[in-house]
Amino acid sequence: EIERRVEALLKQMTLEEKIGQLVQYNDVGYTAPTTADGGSPALAANPETRVHVDAMQLAKEGRLGSMLNVIGADKTRAFQQAAMASRLHIPILFGADVIHGYRTIYPVPLGLAASWDPQLVEDVSRMSAGEATTAGVKWFYSPMVDISRDARWGRSTEGAGEDAYLGAAMARAYIRGYQGDDLSRPDAVAASVKHFAAYGAAEAGREYNTTDMSDIRLRQVYLPPYRAAVEAGAATLMSAFNALNGVPASANPYLMDEILRKEWGFGGFVVSDYTAVMELTNHGVALDAATATKKALEAGVEVDMMSHFYDTQIPRLLAEHKLSMATVDEAVRRVLRVKFALGLFEHPYARPGEVTRAVPEHRPLVRRAAEESFVLLRNEPAGGAPVLPLAKGVKRIALIGPLADASGEMQGAWGGAQHVPDVVTLRDALQARMRAAGGTLLYAEGTGIEGDSQAGFAEAKRAAGQADVVVMALGESSAMSGEAGSRAHLDLPGNQQQLLEAVAATGKPVVLVVFSGRPLVLDWAAKHVPAILEAWFPGTEAGNALANVLFGDVAPSGKLPMSFPRAVGQEPLYYNQFPTGRPAGAADLGKPPAGDTRFISRYIDVPNDALFPFGYGLSYTTFAYSDVRVSRASLPLAEANRADAKGLVTVTATVKNTGAREATEVVQLYVRNLGASVEQPVRSLQGFRRVTLRPGESRQVSFPLGFDELSFYDVHSRRVVEPTHYTAWVGGSSLADRQAEFVVTP
Ligand code: IFM
Repeated sequence: EIERRVEALLKQMTLEEKIGQLVQYNDVGYTAPTTADGGSPALAANPETRVHVDAMQLAKEGRLGSMLNVIGADKTRAFQQAAMASRLHIPILFGADVIHGYRTIYPVPLGLAASWDPQLVEDVSRMSAGEATTAGVKWFYSPMVDISRDARWGRSTEGAGEDAYLGAAMARAYIRGYQGDDLSRPDAVAASVKHFAAYGAAEAGREYNTTDMSDIRLRQVYLPPYRAAVEAGAATLMSAFNALNGVPASANPYLMDEILRKEWGFGGFVVSDYTAVMELTNHGVALDAATATKKALEAGVEVDMMSHFYDTQIPRLLAEHKLSMATVDEAVRRVLRVKFALGLFEHPYARPGEVTRAVPEHRPLVRRAAEESFVLLRNEPAGGAPVLPLAKGVKRIALIGPLADASGEMQGAWGGAQHVPDVVTLRDALQARMRAAGGTLLYAEGTGIEGDSQAGFAEAKRAAGQADVVVMALGESSAMSGEAGSRAHLDLPGNQQQLLEAVAATGKPVVLVVFSGRPLVLDWAAKHVPAILEAWFPGTEAGNALANVLFGDVAPSGKLPMSFPRAVGQEPLYYNQFPTGRPAGAADLGKPPAGDTRFISRYIDVPNDALFPFGYGLSYTTFAYSDVRVSRASLPLAEANRADAKGLVTVTATVKNTGAREATEVVQLYVRNLGASVEQPVRSLQGFRRVTLRPGESRQVSFPLGFDELSFYDVHSRRVVEPTHYTAWVGGSSLADRQAEFVVTP
């Protein structure tokens, strides 16, 4: 039925109307210049050289297919009314950067990934789709599924971290949450999976930088989350800014035609990133706007976001017979298909009941999301018991730091359309608790997030001196991560390290709460501060969620989705590394080197391993692992080397809560494959499960392994299983050390 409607509509469309479906503008009206040499970002950023586009006029003429970041039902309605009054009444598709909430904000995606809880991700995604559709937004530029192994890259905060398996699980969950199984549901939105592809591998972690990698690495590490999203039914993708192996992703037929459409059978459309079509001239692969347009469109970018190239160049290219009408028609078809699937023609306007503030009924869910995202990195005793959880009867807490009461900094990158006063800060929440308990909260900002003023240090030390325990809220500002947020230093910014050391020197027990959009270097704190909680950017319910965890109403269960380095020079740093010919003892597996040998693969000034590795996170209880077993010791290749083979071997393990309180553990399975034709990582995550156990309770957890888990890419880019040896580890982090083995026999 959709196909019939698409074809019927296409037949009636003029060229201008067709091209209209392929362009996207915001409501600001300015976009990049159209000439090739006017296409540099410097010029594009200069309002005087930017081109004025009257989006409302285009809408009236039926020449505007989609818009970005138009916020508010009144605004979307005004544009939509214009489009619906145009000749063919084709609705505009409104897209927005809603990546972790629309009005009710939950943790940044990196934090959400630390929950290792796909169901939670699905639930919050559905919630945000429900909110945004009340403002007419039917398309999210989310999920960002770029694998990021370099914490310098600011956009690490927008994805699920360093691992392909976890990334794929999260990608599926976002798609299920946004789109459900029926895109035409009024509260569903189309996803735009971004940034296709390998944007997270930007060299040196520098934003927009080039990427270059083998096909094996591309397919084994970077592509799985995009593929998982496509297989889950993602309606659209966004092409990336970066070049991959010399070909800009936004004009890359290998990525968008070969892999995405031919191999994966993707039926939706691709939108470029913001002015990425124009930027093909800066990449030097197009000398003019017409060539950039031809390359992008023919490679598979159907919608030009903000370049103002498709609308100016397609007519010329057609007239000069440099582009076929069939290419244009096919692109239009893909866009219309998604609009029909969304039910936009029947329901072009916002759902009733516009959500303009954080929704009270949504607070418990985003609070839980925040609680699950926190990762307890350290919890040592200070005068007896571990510092956390804080004693309920504690009389005086000193809360110190620039993030303690910064409501505008709790959202992280792309804060949706959040209303800052809706945010509960840590200060708000601790104040309420202490007041209710008859205790005192002393507060001092101490210093700014950035800058070098020490003016507040004395007050901070005074507050610490009067307290039983100190909670320090330190870290990055929201703007330090996200797009264009690359950093060459990963320390606490500004003067915060000095503040931390000054307060720690008072001798009072310190709990360090770190707000950040990425892993930071916390090596000093890891030696001198008894408790460290990574809080990411928790969103609207930040303070309440933190208070619940700090006071032990909820035990932390988050596990790191990205390795925390000891020094920035270790980046890119990830557990899933390849072996070397000169391994540093068992350091590849996180153990210290056996001897002091020089000519091995190691730094002379810092250990190889992470300070806090992937998968790591403590609880208020302890867990013990035992009985790691495999269901069979060997299996024949003929059985294993079949793409549809499932449940070939089952790995089981027993996990026991050996502490004194109920808590949730993320049980993780890692696999290594030795003897293959292509070297394989020292270990790879191939399964995980959240398990809640009462004190003393044990549970057997099993992980079925099939072709998907056992296979790898060979030198011909084929996914295969070979007769090799497998080791499987089960445990609570990527350092899991209980193992079992099996072989695939020839
Ligand atoms: O969706 C974003 C993308 O992730 C980065 N550039 C701008 C786009 C639209 O705002």
